[in-house]
Amino acid sequence: MKQQAYAQVSAQIEALVSGVDNLTGALANVSAALKETFSHYFWVGFYIVNGQNLELGPFQGPVACYTIPRGKGVCGKAWQMGQTLTVPDVSKFEGHIACSSESRSEIVVPIFKDGEVVAVIDVDSSELGAFDSTDQQGLEQVAQTLGHLF
Ligand code: SME
Repeated sequence: MKQQAYAQVSAQIEALVSGVDNLTGALANVSAALKETFSHYFWVGFYIVNGQNLELGPFQGPVACYTIPRGKGVCGKAWQMGQTLTVPDVSKFEGHIACSSESRSEIVVPIFKDGEVVAVIDVDSSELGAFDSTDQQGLEQVAQTLGHLF
């Protein structure tokens, strides 16, 4: 089941990034590990804080927007609030940034380093309401593993 899959992929990710001094490579591998594990993911990747914007990082899935200002879209809002945002229906989220018209629901999880958001994990699904508290807990665990890379 999903909880067990998150536990397994979390352990895999810890091993994948341990001792690695290559942020781009590590984040690319993490996107791949997550996308391979979860069939309810349509797009998974990273947006990385750069000044007042988030910039597109490594991802798996269809092409995506490059830049998201702080406070904008689900990603920019999760960064500003410093907390996970789960959006069951993106058409009902004011300011949602549609990189793909196929995306129907989304979860965005901040990655912290020294108490500051340094990046976010963004996951989209082509199904409505695809993400629940198991996804949130699993992805927050992954986010914790990644903070030290930045
Ligand atoms: N939907 C996001 C933008 C990034 S894409 O989903 C890959 C948002 O509203 O922030």
